Amino acid sequence: MVRASEIALNRELWALVNERFTGPAAAALWSRPEMGWGLYGVPERRLGVLGEVDGLDVLELACGTAYWSAWLTRAGARVVAVDLSMEQLTTARTLQRSTGPAFPLVQADAEHVPLASASFDLVLSEHGAAAWCDPEYWLPEVARVLRPGGLLVFLTNTVLSALCVPEDEGVATSSLQRGQRAAYHVRWPGGGAEFHPSHGDWIRLLRRFGFHIEALHELYAPQDAPDHPYYEIVSADWASQWPAEELWVARRTLEAVTHNG
Ligand SMILES: C[S@@+](CC[C@H](N)C(=O)[O-])C[C@H]1O[C@@H](n2cnc3c(N)ncnc32)[C@H](O)[C@@H]1O
Repeated sequence: MVRASEIALNRELWALVNERFTGPAAAALWSRPEMGWGLYGVPERRLGVLGEVDGLDVLELACGTAYWSAWLTRAGARVVAVDLSMEQLTTARTLQRSTGPAFPLVQADAEHVPLASASFDLVLSEHGAAAWCDPEYWLPEVARVLRPGGLLVFLTNTVLSALCVPEDEGVATSSLQRGQRAAYHVRWPGGGAEFHPSHGDWIRLLRRFGFHIEALHELYAPQDAPDHPYYEIVSADWASQWPAEELWVARRTLEAVTHNG
């Protein structure tokens, strides 16, 4: 029940903050000519975590306005995009009409995905499930919907950035503001309920649910980057000194655990 109320809280939060994700900012992301990761758009071409996506069945979890799904569809993937928020999906649908391409949009909780088992080659989530969902639930769901050998790629805030954000929110400082255990499952005052596992936690969780970790990329802002217009987690100056975001690449093994416990 506690988790159900947190999910309801997060759904309400995203109904409110959706307005920041509409308009020219969302349209610009949909129109971007190349795929890029996170706040500073680190080019996928440079990291090369996805490989060839043409012809793959792809699930984007907690897709928001679904620009990753748009890019992947243009690259030849068959994409399904899932998000909890009807408001975010409505923005995505508007952009499908104005900018294209179209792909299926599903309103659902990433901890309980209403899609068939073993039906995807790639599951991707950028600032999505990793921060907003309980890894004890969303990781086994990913293991279930991925085909054996399929790839999970997710980007999230670093635990370091979560440790440095002050209690009243605002951008990360250069000092520790909370204990690492407290950051694992944190309820921001006036904000949502989030998860920020440490690297040790992620390794334990991914291995437990049957993933082989292939890479962890720590992403920095370029030296001259401006502050992000609407994400208020870190300043560009902070993110050029410490990694604000990290990108995990993990492959589903044959022995994946597809249920919790
Ligand atoms: C920051 S957006 C991620 C999308 C996009 N890549 C971005 O960076 O803007 C986070 C999304 O997670 C969604 N979300 C939060 N909790 C969720 C849940 N339990 N299941 C599915 N989506 C969820 C929110 O509705 C929101 O659209």
